[in-house]
Amino acid sequence: MDFFIAVIKGDGIGPEIVDAAIAVLDRVGKEYSHRFKYEYLLAGGAALDVHGEPLPKATVKKCKNSNAALLGAVGDPKWDNEPGDNRPEKAILGLREELGLFANLRPAMVYDELSFSCPLKEEIISGGLNILIVRELTGGIYFGPRGTEVIGEASKLSKIVDHFRGEKTLPPGRFAYDVEQYSEMEISRIATTAFEMAMKREKRVTSVDKANVLDSSRLWRAVMEEVHVKYPEVKLDHLYVDNTAQQLIKNPKQFDVIVTSNMFGDILSDEASQITGSIGMLPSASLGEGSFGLYEPIHGSAPKYAGMDRANPIATILSAAMMLRYSLNLKAEADAIEKAVNDFLVAGYRTPDIHTEGKALVGTKECGNLIAGFVGK
Ligand code: IPM
Ligand code: MG
Repeated sequence: MDFFIAVIKGDGIGPEIVDAAIAVLDRVGKEYSHRFKYEYLLAGGAALDVHGEPLPKATVKKCKNSNAALLGAVGDPKWDNEPGDNRPEKAILGLREELGLFANLRPAMVYDELSFSCPLKEEIISGGLNILIVRELTGGIYFGPRGTEVIGEASKLSKIVDHFRGEKTLPPGRFAYDVEQYSEMEISRIATTAFEMAMKREKRVTSVDKANVLDSSRLWRAVMEEVHVKYPEVKLDHLYVDNTAQQLIKNPKQFDVIVTSNMFGDILSDEASQITGSIGMLPSASLGEGSFGLYEPIHGSAPKYAGMDRANPIATILSAAMMLRYSLNLKAEADAIEKAVNDFLVAGYRTPDIHTEGKALVGTKECGNLIAGFVGK
């Protein structure tokens, strides 16, 4: 069968890790008689360089015409001083928003072969760790009203600043705000994703919020409870985000699926990635209503390693596996990639970020080729 895949290599190490994932996909294509047709698109700093904007309309349009999109990473210090709308990160946020990708799946698991790299005591993770963070991705503070104003110049005050002024007297000077906000619909659909995922796993969902302080969290909690009624087999718990940050270190094995808001999910998924000890290994999927999804490693563009053939492409390769599973409905093929990654580790190969004495050190390209070689073996 033919599949159309939008490929956004992005910045920094993006091109190298994506090339390695394509080598693996091509091998899957050969083994299982599929044709993956790639359309290479620009976004992030790479698009700023060529088009002067981080997310050209053509990129969004072509993604919409594809079965799925695979992304390396965006972000380049060269653009750090750009205003918010012209930063490479805007490409990611724009893609999520324009493609309606409201559900972000971020698995955090520890590979047996790499369990020594987990910074926690052995007994805390013994028996393995496998958490799925379901992060709401198109709402909350990331997409709420925001602005920067100078208090004291009445003519420039916006409605929002008037609102804050009503609450308390704002001191003159610069003032900035970002609003955390959620609608029932937004919470309900991410709750459904979390419960559906839990049904295929250990049937436990922990909903994370800050309901002791935030109205938006109190609505979040209420809607979670309402959707839960449809999933009586799933056990639902609620936890405050600050407590969750502790529990992830103290007893991470208690978690199966964690569902949370955009901002809390951003923070907790970085924390969870460090527990696994290898941020270069963790993939992600961003899904909407249909089968289209955007797949990317959870790590960034690591500009200082760009072009050095030393980045770990496994997170991108595993993102490609998630793409096969969730958007292309190719389950056996996805399993084959995941197995090939494990075989690669068991055979003793390591990229520099996970290398230890006695193991065979390989670069980005060789890592991709070796994993491709294990597919179907
Ligand atoms: C992530 C990243 C992004 C986010 C940035 C690059 C906008 O940190 O995907 O976790 O905050 O969502
Ligand atoms: Mg993040």
